[in-house]
Amino acid sequence: MKQIKIEGGRTLTGTIKISGAKNSAVALVPASILSDGIVKIDNIPNISDINALDEILRYLGAKVSLDNGLMTINPKEIKNKKIPKEVSSKLRASYYFMSALLGKYKHVEMYFPGGCKIGARPIDQTLKGFEALGAIVEEKDNKFIISATELKGGHVYLDMPSVGATINTMLVAVKAKGLTIIENAAKEPEIVNVATFLNNMGAKITGAGTSEIRIRGVEKLKGCFAEVIPDRIETGTYIIAGALLGDNLRIENIIPEHVESLTLKLKEMGVKMKIGNSYIVINKCLKPKHVNLKTLGYPGFPTDLQQPITTLLTQCTGVSTLEETIYENRFQNVPYLNKMGANIKISGKKIKIKGPTPLKGAKVTATDLRAGACLILAALIAKGTTTIKDIDHVLRGYEKILEKLTNVGAKITME
Ligand code: EPU
Repeated sequence: MKQIKIEGGRTLTGTIKISGAKNSAVALVPASILSDGIVKIDNIPNISDINALDEILRYLGAKVSLDNGLMTINPKEIKNKKIPKEVSSKLRASYYFMSALLGKYKHVEMYFPGGCKIGARPIDQTLKGFEALGAIVEEKDNKFIISATELKGGHVYLDMPSVGATINTMLVAVKAKGLTIIENAAKEPEIVNVATFLNNMGAKITGAGTSEIRIRGVEKLKGCFAEVIPDRIETGTYIIAGALLGDNLRIENIIPEHVESLTLKLKEMGVKMKIGNSYIVINKCLKPKHVNLKTLGYPGFPTDLQQPITTLLTQCTGVSTLEETIYENRFQNVPYLNKMGANIKISGKKIKIKGPTPLKGAKVTATDLRAGACLILAALIAKGTTTIKDIDHVLRGYEKILEKLTNVGAKITME
């Protein structure tokens, strides 16, 4: 794995352009195989998770090209093959192939998906969705064999608004006969992006973005064009960087509404921002005030920004509290922040951050994607040099992060 060195304390000024959303793109790419014609998807981020999905597409027999963010997928010659474990275990989103293949062929064999080790991350709700549509699920040695003689619309009530289970159920339901209703569906903008894409192919989905999604199955799906929405987590990460070190740092190509839970919290802290239609200009906040935070599904505060914002909380005056309600193991960044000088105590699902504490350079490890983003932010404000090991986790989900930060004034070297 690669490591980087960051020299802290540099002001960030200039413009950062936000890329396409990882968590949308990783669903759109597998969903493309449901189509009978050629699919074009624009604004695909250049991240290693996409490379892994590209590898799976080619393995299945699709013709794929990627040119400057525009991915063209011709799925006409794909075969329903078992995806090797080494590839499917690279990322969580490999299980979107499970549902797309099931929707297309009524049969799929696949291993348990991978993803950041931030909790148990079971897939019971996805399997419940498949069963409600008439599939029979067998599990053997961590491999799932899922078959249906006929896929029929059904009523699915999700125990929690799971992003993955909502998308997986949609991907099967578009090809199931009759009406499917998903209740307690996830409302994330990525779900809307996937539903719009499927509707462009000829699917009949209504209600995406609300907690009740209705899908009327169709027999055929045609080729289409779609665009990946801007990445709201990447946006939020750079907004936090701006609150820490910005001098008129401009973040553009964004949908401000998608990061409102963050910008409203920053306003509560006293951070000054100018929010336009598709950009935010942000300046360093000298004395941010402490706040209390709790992660929730959209439109609540995203768990994926919980670790990045912890760095900012170390610079707030007073005691901030942060509760993680989605994942059991998403505080692996905390010991490293403490090593750098923070004063954070973990108690169960909550952390208490006493600030402000100056941070100093240290040797730390990116244990997962967003922990890595948190540590990059910490290194940017720390006195001296910070070495971050295992930076590959970050490259899975942030397009050209080192280049984007260097372009606005950060001093980073890859080793
Ligand atoms: N859950 C279950 N059973 C299920 C599905 C989920 O118990 O069948 C639980 C999970 O263990 C978790 C919660 O429900 O505690 C939410 O999980 P969800 O299914 O919503 O998450 P996901 O689809 O696995 C996506 C993103 C995550 C992001 C979450 C929440 C992708 C590829 N991943 O994961 O992104 O944190 O939604 O918004 O879209 C990241 O980008 O760093 C990342 C981890």
